[in-house]
Amino acid sequence: MRVLVTGGAGFIGVNLIRYVLRETSDVSIINLDALTYAGNLASLTDVADDPRYRFVHGDIRDARLVDDLVADADAVIHLAAESHVDRSIDGPATFLDTNVVGAGVVFDACRRASVDRVLHISTDEVYGSIAAPERFVESDPLQPSSPYAASKAGADLLARSYATTYGYPITVTRTTNNLGPYHYPEKVVPLFITNLLDGHPVPLYGDGSNVREWTYVEDNAAAQWLVLTDGEPGEVYNVGSGEERSNRQLTTAICDALGVGEDMIEHVADRPGHDLRYAVDASKVRSLGWAPSVDFEETLARTVDWYRANEDWWRPLKERGASTRRGAV
Ligand SMILES: NC(=O)c1ccc[n+]([C@@H]2O[C@H](COP(=O)([O-])OP(=O)(O)OC[C@H]3O[C@@H](n4cnc5c(N)ncnc54)[C@H](O)[C@@H]3O)[C@@H](O)[C@H]2O)c1
Repeated sequence: MRVLVTGGAGFIGVNLIRYVLRETSDVSIINLDALTYAGNLASLTDVADDPRYRFVHGDIRDARLVDDLVADADAVIHLAAESHVDRSIDGPATFLDTNVVGAGVVFDACRRASVDRVLHISTDEVYGSIAAPERFVESDPLQPSSPYAASKAGADLLARSYATTYGYPITVTRTTNNLGPYHYPEKVVPLFITNLLDGHPVPLYGDGSNVREWTYVEDNAAAQWLVLTDGEPGEVYNVGSGEERSNRQLTTAICDALGVGEDMIEHVADRPGHDLRYAVDASKVRSLGWAPSVDFEETLARTVDWYRANEDWWRPLKERGASTRRGAV
């Protein structure tokens, strides 16, 4: 099988590509990535010479390039996006352009080329916030709160329209927050770990009561691959571990793992429109046979170990401008 992955130089993409190359022998991957600030080929040096892997530097909004690449693909996994909520609040335009228009370019190229399977990676943030103990199911309405989430909801709904209008099914996964290796150090987990490794405080938004569901990025990679290969085309699948933590609990766990006290936590003004809680019901993807392989504590321990051991990966990103001061989830 020949798979085109878009955005494969970002956090989830590099973990997914590594997973697929490790777990399969008959799959080749083309990775199309524009290498924005979030894309990093240093995350893929160990697979760069694999004959089953090829990198193409380019933009998903380049329709001619995307047409050329999908012509040879049996499947497409669409990950490329602007992914940071705070940046979307500072300036939504790029998010609309990449996450909606860019997704449209990819979907339409796939439709015209009749690509067998297309998987669009959406997010649990498209649902908006939900009060405990409820969990979102796939048929719930999309009520996004941030420009990022709204742009992802736009692509998610566009994917849905392709089945209805063209009879061309695009499968969607709505994935909870991931943590693990190769995560750009502007997002909360790598930001806080690397800040603490450098002896800097960690900026926690508001009172830290916002709750997120945390999934190990390698488990997420397994779920995405399972949905692509065994899922029902055109269906939507929530992907989440069920491991909920408030940001305060997450921050305390990171401080504990780094052996520092809570005096390193600095409360900063809350993010506008900050959703209180995301949580999904993942029974549909579990019915395909997926389950998380590790719990939250083990996931966090592995992630901290990885950042301790891979300073040469994250240090240049911090030096190039990933802020130490801003909170993020
Ligand atoms: N990280 C999470 O916790 C999470 C959770 C749910 C859903 N998602 C979704 O998963 C996908 C991947 O997330 P991530 O965390 O890996 O993001 P990321 O920001 O780490 O990586 C995004 C990648 O897309 C590339 N890219 C951006 N614009 C592009 C363009 N116009 N053309 C080609 N490439 C472009 C970037 O260079 C980068 O390599 C996104 O669609 C995101 O919305 C992420």
